[in-house]
Amino acid sequence: MRRVLITGATGGIGRALVPLLAPSSSLFLTGRDPVKLDEVAREARSAGNEVSALALDLMAPGAVQTQASWLGGPVDVLVNNAGDVQFGPYESQPWEAVHRELRLNLEVPMELVHALVPGMLSNGQGRIVNVLSIAAKETFAGAAAYSAAKSGLLAFTRCLNRETRTRGVHSVALLPGATDTSLWDRQQGSPPRNQMLTAQAVAEEIARLIDLPADRTVDEVVLLPPHGVL
Ligand SMILES: NC(=O)c1ccc[n+]([C@@H]2O[C@H](COP(=O)([O-])OP(=O)(O)OC[C@H]3O[C@@H](n4cnc5c(N)ncnc54)[C@H](OP(=O)(O)O)[C@@H]3O)[C@@H](O)[C@H]2O)c1
Repeated sequence: MRRVLITGATGGIGRALVPLLAPSSSLFLTGRDPVKLDEVAREARSAGNEVSALALDLMAPGAVQTQASWLGGPVDVLVNNAGDVQFGPYESQPWEAVHRELRLNLEVPMELVHALVPGMLSNGQGRIVNVLSIAAKETFAGAAAYSAAKSGLLAFTRCLNRETRTRGVHSVALLPGATDTSLWDRQQGSPPRNQMLTAQAVAEEIARLIDLPADRTVDEVVLLPPHGVL
């Protein structure tokens, strides 16, 4: 049974992905909220396979290493999904807030790959899905730190592929447009929520990318709602 780690499994996109993978995978789920995580894990266990869950704040010192050790061995699939944003004018954001966005959206996923890719390479196979954002390519006022982090993760994903794909480890950068999740509850305003992608649609795309046949690879996917960039 393939072993799959999903970060941010308690949020909109991660949570929608769990039931899609549960029937075919042994799942390792992480998120911050222990109550929500327990709920997601319980639902996934009803699909009959093994589910392990670890509540932790990935920004805490040593947390990525703790998460990697908790896995107890290599994973076949890593979904780097945990992320967050606080939109606002760059000059009025405290530096601490800017740094948190860079850390969570760029440094943490890179650190996790750093911890897990050696195991994938020694198995000669692995898939990494890095959940970026359309903000990796489009410019949005009020999203400077988030865009910088997500476009940095795009550059990282491309370089990683150059280094590992001929040894069986394939990474894909998924760039979703606006998606109707609780991420938007925390912003001052938002594009019309009913025009956004659903978390289910993004999760289905992640599942498709994970299950690509072995005779092909996809480097980058831009997934937008029907009206395009909102
Ligand atoms: N929503 C959008 O419009 C949109 C568009 C493009 C890309 N994305 C990307 O999609 C990914 C998922 O976002 P979402 O929309 O599903 O947002 P969400 O509903 O807010 O979920 C975010 C997830 O990340 C986890 N997380 C946040 N900070 C964390 C931390 N410090 N340590 C550990 N886990 C943490 C949350 O855990 P808890 O809930 O337990 O705190 C939650 O599971 C993010 O990378 C986001 O940038 C979102």
